[in-house]
Amino acid sequence: TQELRLGIAGLGTVGASVIRMIARRGEALSRTGMTIRVTAVSARDRSRDRGLDLSGVTWFDDPVALARSGEVDCVVELIGGAEGAAKRTVEAALAAGKPVVTANKALLAHHGLALARAAEASGVSLACEASVAGGIPVIKVLREALAGNAISRVYGILNGTCNYILSRMELEGLTFEACLKDAQALGYAEADPTFDVEGFDTAHKLAILTSLAFGTAPDADGVSVEGISAITPLDLRMADELGYRIKLLGVAEATSAGIEQRVHPTMVPKSSAIAQVMGVTNAVTIDSDALRELTLIGPGAGGEATASAVVADIADLAAGRTAPAFGRPATALAPPARAEMQRH
Ligand code: NDP
Ligand code: HSE
Repeated sequence: TQELRLGIAGLGTVGASVIRMIARRGEALSRTGMTIRVTAVSARDRSRDRGLDLSGVTWFDDPVALARSGEVDCVVELIGGAEGAAKRTVEAALAAGKPVVTANKALLAHHGLALARAAEASGVSLACEASVAGGIPVIKVLREALAGNAISRVYGILNGTCNYILSRMELEGLTFEACLKDAQALGYAEADPTFDVEGFDTAHKLAILTSLAFGTAPDADGVSVEGISAITPLDLRMADELGYRIKLLGVAEATSAGIEQRVHPTMVPKSSAIAQVMGVTNAVTIDSDALRELTLIGPGAGGEATASAVVADIADLAAGRTAPAFGRPATALAPPARAEMQRH
């Protein structure tokens, strides 16, 4: 059988879990028709013991050099961040004609169109299932399963850290700071957790979902954003007394004026389905003409959940199943028409 040689750039929460999952599921993954093997890795600190067996794997201090290496057929970017090393690594891989798998929603939300164009120019794929809602395969659903539907709205709980914090503050009476610390220790939070708690991570994911749902280029700057850092235990208690829970929602909606994208804490009735989504779990609801309402619920962050989506993209590549990053060719992605935000 042929080999698919992976270069993993980033060995943190997600990168380490991907390496463990490939080791554990190697035999099952070979049913794709290819043997999947990690041949190269990159991270900042070479001396750190990560509990990984990296014997026979080439180490690169510079992830761009990994991307260009003759030992690598596919680059798996798990560094993070919209600029810097992650962007340079993905650009180098695509320019070298290598497919990329990434979980980097910040990068895609800000530079998705340019990267999708670069991938198409080289005739390779840019796969990003893990970039939205952790293990929930929502990108595949929007791109493939709902092709016959006209979508009017996509919304949901898209940040595991925030939902974990709000859930524990409400149910256990813990402080915001204590819950955030635990979310970081569990590997849910971004390297800079401001992205989680100020709503930017939800906005990045929403921009990607909007692109897939409405055929527009990702427009991170078009999202109106408010996070949860100002939510107090008193707010949660008041909501509770009125029969509500507070959730951080991302909402993208087609209006007559264009597409409205917004992220903000929202009071949801305790009896609603979305109010039952607690902890690190995410939920995405898609409203469309044929299916009316479809909701996907599942693990939204953490090493294993995210590795599940990354490894699925790798398996697709090995099996020859490729698709444009945002569901249609980059040339067909319409520029986004922004609607003025209206609070509902
Ligand atoms: P971590 O911060 O745990 O890991 C980042 C890794 O990148 C580290 O191994 C770090 O090296 C390495 N790195 C950073 N800068 C460089 C550089 N200049 N050159 C080489 N390596 C570098 O992040 P996560 O694993 O949590 O996240 C990775 C990506 O996945 C991000 O885009 C994130 O948004 C996304 N994601 C994360 C999820 C999660 O639940 N954690 C869920 C879904 C997506 P070192 O270890 O030496 O410091
Ligand atoms: N920090 C993100 C979250 C990781 O908490 O949802 C998953 O994308």
